[in-house]
Parts: sequence; C-alpha cells; structure tokens
Amino acid sequence: MYMNRGLENKKILLGITGGIAAYKSVFLLRLLKTRGADVRVVMTESACQFVAPLTFETLSEHPVQVRLFGAGGDQGTVSPVEHIELAKWPDLVVIAPTTANTLSKLVAGGADDLLSNVVSAYEGTVVLAPAMNDVMWRNKSTQENLQTLSHRGYRVISPGTGDLACGYEAEGRMAEPERILDFVERLFDSDFGNLKVLVSVGGTEEDLDPVRVISNRSSGKMGFAIAEAARDRGAQVTAVVGRVSVPPPVGVRVLSVRTSADMSSAVKQAFVEADVLIMAAAVADYKASSPLVRKKKGDTWTLELIATEDILESIGKMKGRRFIVGFALETDNIEENAKEKLVKKNCDLLVVNNPLEDGAAFEHDTNSVLIYNTKGLLLETGIKSKREIADIVLQVARKEKNFQKILV
Ligand code: CTP
Repeated sequence: MYMNRGLENKKILLGITGGIAAYKSVFLLRLLKTRGADVRVVMTESACQFVAPLTFETLSEHPVQVRLFGAGGDQGTVSPVEHIELAKWPDLVVIAPTTANTLSKLVAGGADDLLSNVVSAYEGTVVLAPAMNDVMWRNKSTQENLQTLSHRGYRVISPGTGDLACGYEAEGRMAEPERILDFVERLFDSDFGNLKVLVSVGGTEEDLDPVRVISNRSSGKMGFAIAEAARDRGAQVTAVVGRVSVPPPVGVRVLSVRTSADMSSAVKQAFVEADVLIMAAAVADYKASSPLVRKKKGDTWTLELIATEDILESIGKMKGRRFIVGFALETDNIEENAKEKLVKKNCDLLVVNNPLEDGAAFEHDTNSVLIYNTKGLLLETGIKSKREIADIVLQVARKEKNFQKILV
C-alpha cells in the first residue's frame, strides 16, 4: 500500500487548548504521525478536562507536557526551563483547537502556562486552528485578535460551518483534521509554503470634493479569492484592500486604503518584503485634476480628470527577482493588448477578464479569464467560481516559476 510520508523527519509541536474540539486533535495527531512527523503534545490544564493526556501520550509516543514547572502529572518534565528547551525543538507549532482565550493571550504576549510560554519563546511558524461558539467567533475582540496575529505572521486556518457543541449549526467549528493536515503539508511542501504573497484587492476612490468620489464596481471578490487560495497553499498573505463589498478571508493581513495614491504607497511598501505580487485591484484610471476642498453646490459641474499613477507599471520597475501577476479588462484585440501590457508593466503573467462574457468580471461570484505570459496565451478557464480561478492562477504561476522554497 502507498504511504504518504510527506512529513518524515518534521518535528511538530501540537498545542491543545481547552475546547470540545480537542477530541478532534486525537485524529489530527494520528494523521500527522502517519505522515511520518515526530509530534510532541503540550496541553493546557483546561484541555485536559476534555481529553486525557494519556491518549495523546500513547499516540505521540512522547510524554505530554502540561505544567510550566513539571509538577505532578507531567511525566519526564524536570527542567525549570522546559519551555525554552521545548521552544527550540519544533519545525512547526500547531495549536488546535485554539480557544478565544488563547488568541487573546497570544496577542498580549501572556505567558501563564507552558503552552503560552513555549510560543513566546519560539521563533518559527505557528499555525492556529480556532474553534469556538459562533457568537464568540464573530465577537469584535476575537476578530481583531485574529487580524493582529495574522499581521504578526501567525497562520490561521478558518473554522468551518457545521454542528457546534451548542446544539445548532453555525460558523466556529474547528477545521477538520484532514484540512489542518493539508495546510501543514503545504507549508512544508508547496511552492507557496511560507512565500510572502501580496495581493491588491477592490476598487479605489478618488475625491472630487469632501463628500463625492469617483470609483468603480469592483467587489473585491476576485482579489480576496486569490488571497484565500494563496493562504491555503501556505503563503503568508498581505492584502492591500480598497473599496470592497465582501469581508476579507481569515488569516490574511489586511492593509486598508482608499485612494489610488494610498494604494500606491501601501503596495510599494509591502512589495519590498514580498516574493509575489498579484495586482487584482481595480485602480481608478482617472482622478480629478484639482479636487475641491469645499462641497460643490450648483446645477452643473464640469470636471477635468487626469490619469492616476499606474501602480503596476511603477512597481514593475522595482521588480528584482519577484513574480508579478497583473490583471486587465479587455474586449478587443485581446492577445495583442495583453502582450503589450505584460511588457509595459514588466509582469510575468496577465490575467484578462472579458466583461462582455456572461458571469464574468465585476460583482459576480464567477469569472472567466484568459491567462497570458509574454509568449502568448497559456490558458482559457471558461466560467468558473472565483475561487477556482484563483487556484488556477496560482497553479499557472507555480509552473511559470519554480519559487524558491523558504524553510519554515
Ligand atoms: N493598475 C494599476 N494602476 C492603475 C491602473 C491599473 O496598478 N492606475 C493595474 C491593475 O491593478 C491591473 C492592471 O494594472 O493589474 C490593469 O491595467 P490597465 O492598463 O488598467 O488595464 P485595463 O483595466 O484593461 O485598462 P485599459 O485597457 O484602460 O488599459
């Protein structure tokens, strides 16, 4: 029988905090072990209320650590600096389930138990699989904590929707062990594993006066689908987000902007650290030549519009070894215009929307695109969900360039 040992020799510290989903971590541990990982388990005291440490101890073949200073119950824990030793050991830390309390503790740098001590002394990648009641999940503090942790490079696997322990169906259920395993494997294995992917999303607004703006119908759905797909492939994703009509995916670092000038500075700043840029935003092409400082009154208004900075073109000039994907919207002479744009903006790929096709481009949940490189057409997707298109774009990007793997 074929055995996937994709995590052979990988040292994974599995942190378990106090939620009913802790029982699912038994299956997660099993899956990690069958892939060849060496797993050590650290539990919080409340996690032990849900599943006995002995279960994890038997399956991991290591003593389970619970207490900070190894007092009673922690087999083999003798060192007063156990947390420092433990923090040096793993290639990856996975906390599943992560409770709302643990999220807030991580944000504040709290270290009142072994697990939080280990995490604060650990310098590598930490994956979080939150699990909680749906109201707790939507709670502003929880959402802000997730944003803060994403900003700091923590990887968050969004919870799913399903039966909650509260007796009804809602969002907040810990991601299934198979999905967590898949995420972990991608971190080690995927060409996007630990790459820094920068995505621009949504439309920009250009001021006409203090209350009126020029904008466009971009919803941000395509850009967010790309951010989500990159996140799921193990990338560390930053999204520079303009005007959108949908919420951002969990686990993506969001930088909110309004005007094309704001977007330009945010993208340029984040680009310095990025490995890949995907410019999916619908940047306004024009802005008022002189926006009014006071609100315009009267029956007529003649506007003079001037071109905005072409952000992608400017960025193309500072490309270096990075991979750049541009978007375009073409209805005529598609191939000719695409090739010209690729060269002008120094892009590796251009994703072309045809807004005349049913179910494509702005506002829809579906899209249909043509993907070009400088040599010509690589792929025509036909109508697909934006998430499917996002995955295709990333797959094509991967084929075009064998991204340098960066160790977790
Ligand atoms: N873009 C940009 N800055 C602008 C305008 C566009 O960075 N001021 C980026 C978009 O994010 C997108 C690509 O450039 O990745 C789109 O190029 P653009 O030339 O605007 O293509 P179209 O939208 O097809 O517009 P046009 O045909 O008018 O050139």
